[in-house]
Amino acid sequence: MASKPSSLTPITDLPIPKIPIFHTQFLQFSFSPSSSSLPRNLLVASKLVSRRKSSVCSNSLKQETLQNPTATQDPITSSNKLVLVVGGTGGVGQIVVASLLNRDVKLRLILRDPEKATTLFGKQDEEKLQVMKGDTRNAENLEPSMFEGVTHVICCTGTTAFPSRRWDGDNTPERVDWEGVRNLVSALPRSLTRLILVTSVGVTKSNELPWSIMNLFGVLKYKKMGEDFVRNSGLPYTIIRPGRLTDGPYTSYDLNTLLKATAGERRAVVIGQGDKLVGEVSRLVVAEACIQALDMDFTQGQIYEINSVPGDGPGSDTEKWKELFKAAQLQ
Ligand SMILES: NC(=O)c1ccc[n+]([C@@H]2O[C@H](COP(=O)([O-])OP(=O)(O)OC[C@H]3O[C@@H](n4cnc5c(N)ncnc54)[C@H](OP(=O)(O)O)[C@@H]3O)[C@@H](O)[C@H]2O)c1
Repeated sequence: MASKPSSLTPITDLPIPKIPIFHTQFLQFSFSPSSSSLPRNLLVASKLVSRRKSSVCSNSLKQETLQNPTATQDPITSSNKLVLVVGGTGGVGQIVVASLLNRDVKLRLILRDPEKATTLFGKQDEEKLQVMKGDTRNAENLEPSMFEGVTHVICCTGTTAFPSRRWDGDNTPERVDWEGVRNLVSALPRSLTRLILVTSVGVTKSNELPWSIMNLFGVLKYKKMGEDFVRNSGLPYTIIRPGRLTDGPYTSYDLNTLLKATAGERRAVVIGQGDKLVGEVSRLVVAEACIQALDMDFTQGQIYEINSVPGDGPGSDTEKWKELFKAAQLQ
């Protein structure tokens, strides 16, 4: 285990504990959409393995899918970006990847099992999608060559909050949410335009009920440590803290089906700051928030909590997302 940096903000600075109203839905908050088993002993050297392979927005969009963002709504489409997605096989990550592929944004993935990229996203042109093998827990996996040309990073790695098969091989919250994030951030080029980190609501309240239950094995504490490392890194960052995730994962989908996934009824977006939100959010909404924040200058250095509720939402309309993020900062 690598030594911990001295720049880390002490976790003891947490607010004085209060007992909030107990939300029964909170206990369903699992950090785990599935219980797929992890391959053991996958800690191999990184290498390129395949080149082929609280404001609510309502609008008139009735179907919020990942398909067909229009040019006027979606300035994110860009050929001069190279977005690195870490955690791209996960529930949020696979939507991020599919959505960026659909927008013709060049992508690189760091995956523990690169074969999963083909299963999830099909055979893609090497110009569009590069897949590299790496495990964020091992700093030596994260070679500088893996970050060459990367302009933006979206990190949506995670594991289960409670012991499960996904902890196999010591893939615990401490190792993934803290050490993995620290290793990744330490390896990123200083020239980066933006790092988006997905963490969780409740990270500043891990010693308060009901968050302390979720934090029994440290998941909120370690996510907060990851956040603090990012905040102190000097890199331009935006942190997205989702509520309990709904919809998906879409692991059995092919790319076309994934692009047609909808956020169901839960399309209206609620964004807050100050770790006050409690609720649920569609994975599609979280993925879109990460993508939208990439290019908004004023989201740099900001931390947002995000929920989604029944109703029409912003879809991929950048102007509506701008309003949502800005309104959260004004509150
Ligand atoms: N579930 C909830 O209700 C909830 C609520 C709030 C916040 N969150 C957080 O939101 C984020 C996204 O959630 P999600 O449901 O999309 O996550 P997820 O489905 O559990 O995906 C986790 C991703 O992290 C990758 N990963 C795990 N360990 C890794 C390692 N050592 N090295 C490299 N990659 C690793 C996984 O890759 P493999 O394919 O190799 O396993 C997978 O791609 C996570 O941080 C999660 O904790 C979840």
